[in-house]
Amino acid sequence: MSYGDDYQRLSKYSRDTIGGKSLDWDRKPPLYKQYPSNLKRFDLEKPDRSGGEPLYHLLQQRRSVRNYNPDKVSGSKLSQVLWASQGISLSTEYHQFRTAPSAGGLFPIETYCVINNVDGFPAGVYHYQVSYHSLILLKEGNFGLDLARAALGQKMMRDASFNLVWTAMIDRSKWKYDQRAYRYIYLDAGHIAQNTALAAVSCELGSCQIGAFFDEEVEQIIGVDGEEEFVIYMTSVGRPL
Ligand SMILES: Cc1cc2nc3c(=O)[nH]c(=O)nc-3n(C[C@H](O)[C@H](O)[C@H](O)COP(=O)(O)O)c2cc1C
Repeated sequence: MSYGDDYQRLSKYSRDTIGGKSLDWDRKPPLYKQYPSNLKRFDLEKPDRSGGEPLYHLLQQRRSVRNYNPDKVSGSKLSQVLWASQGISLSTEYHQFRTAPSAGGLFPIETYCVINNVDGFPAGVYHYQVSYHSLILLKEGNFGLDLARAALGQKMMRDASFNLVWTAMIDRSKWKYDQRAYRYIYLDAGHIAQNTALAAVSCELGSCQIGAFFDEEVEQIIGVDGEEEFVIYMTSVGRPL
């Protein structure tokens, strides 16, 4: 099988094939996921946008951390890491821009937060509402062990204070980029993950990026269909042992 090679070749831009396509603004997919208003919303603390450790120090310190202390992490650290990951950093009349860049400003990556042990937040699966900087509780309970099993038995997901699971809503990006969208969702997720890792260090936490998982098992835990929206990347975050 060589479909990866085929994809790379077939999704190249060339001067002969690019252009000529106009965007159908009436069919632009919505930027934000909505949930029923009866689900419980947890507002996150206002993030500190001006302090933190110097950038070069964070770059020097960041390492993948896989062993965590089971102590609770504060809600303010959770807020800080989530905002840094892809929170809103600029609102204008027409657009909201985020801490992470996104191809075409289409922001196809959604964040789910699987909380195991954070002060003030019951364990459960949450969706990060970027524009409100809040979490919506989708499912209460401790899903750390299930997530660890779904990640090929990587125990750090069980021991982490919280885990971020990133999905792609592919139609948001396909609307403009068609099949080339698959290149961009992974690039977008990479930016978000690096922001997360650096913010974790600044909060005296550790993180580890996770690309090895049984896709459908993770999708079942967070409740997405695996087609219109599918998991692409995860990160565990906790206090280093
Ligand atoms: C796309 C990607 C997927 C990764 N998946 C895993 C993973 O599933 N499990 C794991 O323990 N580490 C994973 N890592 C972390 C790498 O092993 C780690 O970044 C690498 O060994 C370099 O070490 P450092 O992060 O401490 O600099 C992943 C990293 C990336 C960028």
